[in-house]
Amino acid sequence: MLGKNITIAIDGPAGAGKSTIAKKVAEDLSIEYIDTGAMYRALTLKVLKLGLNPESIDDVIDTMKDTSIDFRNNHIYLDDIQVDKEIRENIINKNVSFIAQIKEVREGMVKIQQELARTKSIIMDGRDIGTVVLPDADFKFFLTASVEERACRRYKELLEKGESGISYEQIKEEIENRDRIDSTREIAPLTESKDAYRLDTTNKTIDECVKDIISIVKRG
Ligand code: DC
Repeated sequence: MLGKNITIAIDGPAGAGKSTIAKKVAEDLSIEYIDTGAMYRALTLKVLKLGLNPESIDDVIDTMKDTSIDFRNNHIYLDDIQVDKEIRENIINKNVSFIAQIKEVREGMVKIQQELARTKSIIMDGRDIGTVVLPDADFKFFLTASVEERACRRYKELLEKGESGISYEQIKEEIENRDRIDSTREIAPLTESKDAYRLDTTNKTIDECVKDIISIVKRG
């Protein structure tokens, strides 16, 4: 249905529904989905696996130089090993914001992301897509939801995966903490692009949000 390559940027805080919604929009429009948070998560996984401190900037930068992160058929590969599941563990949720604040890390990731979007139609989600990675995206959306709703979604997700050692209150606290770090960091903080469509997902189903986005994209 789309005559030319299009780029769709989706930003918003943790748990706003970005990845679930973006994946469905990608399927419906037959375009590629790129989860930029997964890239920061993959680097975090490597740093933790090496036993390094995610708050040690030099160690993280050195690790990144020696790391390959790429997407194949909607799976994320860290040094050629598929890590879709491992990057969703709660230990990664807890540590990823430190790594995502590092200037050199962001520069490296943004370069890869811009290259991925150069030659094909894509929908990309993250925190800085509409503002930094793809400022000229054809469509920009900013997804939000109340912190209680977002914590509830993450809590259910973890329970479904069998991670039961954490309470709803702890998750809510972690999300608030991540929001704070992501929104106040010096480089590319989570901010709402002025030209983005704002979509509050608190009281909407996934399918309703997908429908809203697709109808805006189709309208052109
Ligand atoms: O969307 P997510 O929860 O998978 O993101 C993981 C972390 O990475 C989150 O703390 C914010 C950071 N991130 C970022 O800084 N910039 C992006 N484009 C994507 C994610």
